[in-house]
Amino acid sequence: MAKIKRIGVLTSGGDAPGMNAAIRAVVRATLYNGCEAYGIYEGYQGLINGDIKKLRSNHVSNIIQRGGTILKSARSKEFRTVEGRAKAAANMREHKIDALVVIGGDGSFTGARIFGQEHGIPVVGIPGTIDNDLYGTDSTIGYDTAVNTAVDAVDKIKDTASAHNRLFFIEVMGRDAGFIALRVAISTGAEAVLVPEIESDLTDLNDFLGKDYDPTNSSAIVIVAEGEKSGGAMQIAEKVSKSHPNYDIRVSILGHMQRGGSPSPFDRVLASQLGVAAVEALLDDQSNIMVGIMNKQITQVPFNKTIKNTKSLNPELLKLVKVLSFR
Ligand code: F6P
Repeated sequence: MAKIKRIGVLTSGGDAPGMNAAIRAVVRATLYNGCEAYGIYEGYQGLINGDIKKLRSNHVSNIIQRGGTILKSARSKEFRTVEGRAKAAANMREHKIDALVVIGGDGSFTGARIFGQEHGIPVVGIPGTIDNDLYGTDSTIGYDTAVNTAVDAVDKIKDTASAHNRLFFIEVMGRDAGFIALRVAISTGAEAVLVPEIESDLTDLNDFLGKDYDPTNSSAIVIVAEGEKSGGAMQIAEKVSKSHPNYDIRVSILGHMQRGGSPSPFDRVLASQLGVAAVEALLDDQSNIMVGIMNKQITQVPFNKTIKNTKSLNPELLKLVKVLSFR
């Protein structure tokens, strides 16, 4: 491989708190190693459009604490085409950018892998998504912050739920995964959690509501992952209200607030570590890999593996919710 002198960085897919900290780390580590750093705006679409700017150290000052992404993010349809990727590669050549760091999730890495293979461009991925649904890393950048934000919101809802003896169904994000839901459920002492990974006919929930829950003098919280197979918090609440017309039920969908806000110290440190690890991996001739963290150690996982495999929910944590909601 030719010596890498210029490294480009982009953020892709849904933004996540801590992406800015990762951009900062990539840029500073690139400069520290005597190379030049280039920011690519609006993800792969910016690479196709040539929306590229040289970044100096001061361009990433004062961003470690900020949510969102200074490089903006997008989901590009054009990059899914051979022609789109060819334009992106041509722009990299024009700017003499030798290698690319992609901060994003599953879909972004699928694009990165094809792009790297088609054009012989070294690419390293950094896991940035609130969903935590990437195989090969214990945590993705943004997950911890999103959980903190959701827990804060649920704690507030619990106050009003308790004041009115209400049953709340609270929907959290996570796409097809229940990582946010499960952690939020345990942290808030929820009575039940519904996640996409477990096929549920609502029997457990109805058992709890029928036997252990007294709507006349207590409240209850059920956390629902947005990808849950029965159709989300609204539909579940409707079904339950039909079988329990005496319950005072409310639904709250937390939505995009979970994607915003200042990253937690955990996410800032993780993003800093992974940003530096990504640059070091490229300079060490690694390509087509994601850098991650497992058991507090930095890992390198081939894109192939992280894309094909599914990270499982910890069954012990699922059991915790059941045991601890016993009344
Ligand atoms: O992947 C992050 C995420 O926030 C998911 O949890 C959610 O399903 C999706 O993105 C929402 O996407 P959009 O912001 O495009 O509506």
